[in-house]
Amino acid sequence: KPNIVTCTAPVNIAVIKYWGKRNEDLILPINSSLSVTLHQDQLKTTTTVATSRSFQEDRIWLNGKEEDITHPRLQSCLREIRRLARKRRNDGEAGLNLTGMSHKVHICSVNNFPTAAGLASSAAGFACLVYTLAQVFGVEGELSGIARQGSGSACRSMYGGFVQWIMGKKDDGKDSLAQQVEPETHWPDLRILVLVASAERKQVGSTSGMQTSVQTSCLLKHRAESVVPERMVEMIEAVQTKDFTAFAELTMKDSNQFHATCLDTYPPIFYLNNVSRQVINLVHRYNRHYGETRVAYTFDAGPNAVIFMLQQHVTEFVQVVQHFFPPDTNGGQFIKGLPVSCAS
Ligand code: DP6
Repeated sequence: KPNIVTCTAPVNIAVIKYWGKRNEDLILPINSSLSVTLHQDQLKTTTTVATSRSFQEDRIWLNGKEEDITHPRLQSCLREIRRLARKRRNDGEAGLNLTGMSHKVHICSVNNFPTAAGLASSAAGFACLVYTLAQVFGVEGELSGIARQGSGSACRSMYGGFVQWIMGKKDDGKDSLAQQVEPETHWPDLRILVLVASAERKQVGSTSGMQTSVQTSCLLKHRAESVVPERMVEMIEAVQTKDFTAFAELTMKDSNQFHATCLDTYPPIFYLNNVSRQVINLVHRYNRHYGETRVAYTFDAGPNAVIFMLQQHVTEFVQVVQHFFPPDTNGGQFIKGLPVSCAS
């Protein structure tokens, strides 16, 4: 009879962006990054892993469709979890449920949001895969280094709240891990709103996009070496002191610099669309109207805006968005508000 485990993992939104690798196979970044993990009930991946003696081979289904299990990143995660499981068995840890350890797995994973639309689906996906496999094989401990080998940003979804991915220095990547900066309970009145400008698949995937950026953009090199190290310190400080103004300004500047490096990439990469640019303008006009930074935006490898604000401004800002982007006008590209809280 099969042994079955189901887990969920949330999306994370980077406020200091990861863009560029120094090692493609191990997925080691050229700079550290920092993100906010969303609440479990909102944007999430649910993964079920079954093991059984009767399974002939490892197989995987994503959103109901069977995918290629030989994908190198999937293989890295499976191999690393099985390696840890073997290590624990060889170390002779007592009380381990070892049945099925050598068995093949069937993996079934579903997202409750559009895949590959720049909504960090690979992050939640690989975080969930690694976490669920670890449960099935009875592996515990530091797993962000394994999730990282599925997709860089996935390592940050292994923790809740505010999470940094420390780039590390070692060639083998052992020190390139995620670490919680503050737990999900730390900033209860911080709110996140996702404005869906388009649910289409993105034109250029992050993996190949950042490859081209590393090869061609000197702005990216400058960013990684001279901008991000200081910004990480400032961002951690802003999070720890719950300084919304500092948090918001750093978030917007870092998003803008990331998209500037995309434009500096040759040939250039465009992730923002007209709606994204209108949202950027709207946020700045809104903040200028109040003479203070009440709202911040950030965009990943896609046109959808993620908005940060404090609870007391949500109702009004949502009304403003609905005024400027009424549903179904705007050439069909209507914007859907989805209030997401990062605290339970
Ligand atoms: C723009 O983690 O998807 O969202 O490591 O190649 O899988 P791979 O890339 P991925 O890149 C995410 C890039 C980003 C910024 C971020 O999340 O930090």
